[in-house]
Amino acid sequence: MKNNKKNQVYVWPLCTRFVHWLIALSFTFSFILSFFEHRLNYHVAVGIIFGLMLLYRIIWGFIGPRYATFNTFKLSLSELKFYFVEKIKNRYREIPAGHNPASSWYTLIVLSVGSVIAISGLLLYGIQEAKGYLSVLNDDYYMYSDTLLNIHIYASYTLLAWAFIHIIGVLIEQFYHKTNMVFAMITGYKKAKGEDAELCTPKNIVSYIFLILSVWVFYVILDGTHNPFVKSKFTNIDYKSENDIFYEKCGDCHKIYPPFLLTEKSWIRIMDGLDNHFGEKITDQNISKQEAIVIKNYLLKNAAEHSTREAAVKIVASVKDGRPIAITKTLYWIETHKNIPRSAYSDKKIKDKSNCFSCHKNIEKGNTEDINILYHY
Ligand code: HEC
Ligand code: HEC
Repeated sequence: MKNNKKNQVYVWPLCTRFVHWLIALSFTFSFILSFFEHRLNYHVAVGIIFGLMLLYRIIWGFIGPRYATFNTFKLSLSELKFYFVEKIKNRYREIPAGHNPASSWYTLIVLSVGSVIAISGLLLYGIQEAKGYLSVLNDDYYMYSDTLLNIHIYASYTLLAWAFIHIIGVLIEQFYHKTNMVFAMITGYKKAKGEDAELCTPKNIVSYIFLILSVWVFYVILDGTHNPFVKSKFTNIDYKSENDIFYEKCGDCHKIYPPFLLTEKSWIRIMDGLDNHFGEKITDQNISKQEAIVIKNYLLKNAAEHSTREAAVKIVASVKDGRPIAITKTLYWIETHKNIPRSAYSDKKIKDKSNCFSCHKNIEKGNTEDINILYHY
């Protein structure tokens, strides 16, 4: 492209601007989406765009056009100090065409913290949610879920704060120093001296590949629950064929509560107290001694301690030495449901907090996936 603008340099070619805005937007959107549990697939889909764009920006740092490559970054501390001294002393100073020392450091930190966020997120999807290709890691590493989640969250807040600093810096450039910084990332032109950035065809192709890849991954993730990118390691359980007696007898008054949602001690307490089961008297006529033994064994074998599902692991941790008689009495359940308004239970379809089935699609088949939470109250 020919640059016929006076006193302006073409610094940011289209793809550099594109990656900049996609990183900003995908981060913002996935941050907001993280507050909506049942939108996990959207969060992941947008998060993957963020990760891919970071990867692309890192590759760009090696092969990209002039001004985008890491070897043009100004990283010495004396340069950084000089930059700020000059900024304070001289309002209308000349600015460099490419990255200044502050924005060099800024970009490096975004790429590092961003990578921590993207990698911990991918690992969480596999290890904690047991979904996608990395779900093979769930068995051996489920105990690191909390650590990973903390890393993911703290890194995200760090990046958010960091982005605000960036925005303030750019606004100071725009309105105080009047360098027209905001528009540089839109038009590509900067009021500075230097040579224009140029982009050869192969590098353009790399950019398009990343663009197509991210759009494709986005659709694949949102596409449903069956493709290997999002497929859960845990499929719905057919309790009837697993244990007919348990299914028939314990599914008589209410739908099945999955055994992995209570610990062994709790199930023992429930099975030893059938004569007063939440106000119901379950007699030998309802469930014979023989059947009760079969059910109890099945429950103990499949109790929370023997599962690597997120809910099971967290229930075991929250119950400690206690033996609550209901899932709704575990600290974990109380914590995860504390934001549900009381008025939800006056809804005829829900009525009671024990009516898990009204808010969790297929929970009676052992499905506790976030995307199956129904917010209909
Ligand atoms: C005679 C009817 C009846 C039968 C049979 C029955 N239950 Fe229940 N169960 C109830 C009632 C009533 C509640 C209270 C919650 C509700 O209203 O659904 C309850 C609650 C529970 C809860 C607590 C849910 C919570 O709030 O966290 C568990 C766990 C449970 N039942 C397990 C079992 C198991 C295991 C069996 C089979 C051995 C069984 N139930 C058979 C009537 C029954
Ligand atoms: C009134 C609707 C409602 C009822 C009833 C309800 N839940 Fe939930 N549940 C939710 C919502 C909403 C969330 C997501 C909370 C959040 O993290 O924002 C949730 C979260 C969960 C989670 C955590 C999911 C995850 O991976 O983060 C589990 C497990 C769960 N519920 C199990 C149960 C069980 C078991 C019952 C019945 C004993 C139950 N729920 C009853 C609405 C309900």
